[in-house]
Amino acid sequence: MLSRVKILGAGIIGLACADELVRRGHRVTLVDPAPGSGASHAAAGMLSPAGELWHGESELFVFGARSAALWPDFAARLDVPLREEGTLLAALDHGDLQQVLRQAELLASHDVTAEQLARDELLALEPGLSDRVVGGARLPDRSVDPRVVVAALRRRLASRVEVVEAAGDLDGLDRRADHDVTIVATGALLPAPFDRLVRPVRGEIVRVRSSDPPRHTIRGWAHGEQVYAVPRTARAGVAEVVVGATSEEHNGPPVATVGGVSRLLDSARRLIPGLDRAEFAEAIARDRPGTPDNLPLVGATDLEGVILAAGHFRHGVLLAPLTAQLVADQVESGHVEPALDPRRFARSDLTSLERTTA
Ligand code: GLY
Repeated sequence: MLSRVKILGAGIIGLACADELVRRGHRVTLVDPAPGSGASHAAAGMLSPAGELWHGESELFVFGARSAALWPDFAARLDVPLREEGTLLAALDHGDLQQVLRQAELLASHDVTAEQLARDELLALEPGLSDRVVGGARLPDRSVDPRVVVAALRRRLASRVEVVEAAGDLDGLDRRADHDVTIVATGALLPAPFDRLVRPVRGEIVRVRSSDPPRHTIRGWAHGEQVYAVPRTARAGVAEVVVGATSEEHNGPPVATVGGVSRLLDSARRLIPGLDRAEFAEAIARDRPGTPDNLPLVGATDLEGVILAAGHFRHGVLLAPLTAQLVADQVESGHVEPALDPRRFARSDLTSLERTTA
């Protein structure tokens, strides 16, 4: 049965859900006061279940790997390029090298081989790295420019969905007669009663333009400070390089701070000295939507006709195509992945956020 669907939030998650639902024949309205201006606008675009693997997040890795496998078709449909050069983990001192080795061990426990690289091998692959690096590893992860993806989705949907540039109101929308289902895809700003399910984790990120950019995504440790640099494809010999990201739980507005930006740039310049000559383009901050278990919230809720597609934390871009499929499956058949089911948290007015056992 075809449904009339209202989606609150037109970031990469809301747009990808709209695209999948339209492809399956459903009628979609998107509601967002400023489409594409949230976390997707800041994101670096690493499609990296391996590079972004953290201890205790094995379930997330499995969903990330599933979504990474969907990206080539998703990108082809949108006609956006993926960068295939891969990721280098790089260490500036022997303490940093221990971090690389720990990451490689963690990956090995998930059946991912990080090819370990001696200093000379690392420098041969990426001559722009500091000659002080002591070693590293290579991963096959891809990257994409999320701003290009959002623009492509908006173009593709322009004549296929109604876009309402206004703030969505869940109270008024979930029981209106003009649609069957409401999907909430508003990132870190979930409306009540779901607001307690996400916490804002500020990420500050810097964009520079370089005539000497790295070829690979670099995920580095510089004397204990973690930093990544994600290059875009060069035009006229100049490429954007995205340097990120801070990570801070906070209650204030997500602003880029002098301290955060200078720490990022210091670490990036230590690893990639040529960035000293790059043109500074932008410093920006957005809130990542963290959940109590760092897994997204994808599926039906206790509110009749309301589905969540939110809480993607550090992985919104990576998980967009999988989320879109899961949301469309939920609309059509009620299927939900138990690990992502928003109802997995015990709810007494959403004041208790303990995870329930299935
Ligand atoms: N996924 C990169 C970040 O959250 O900084």
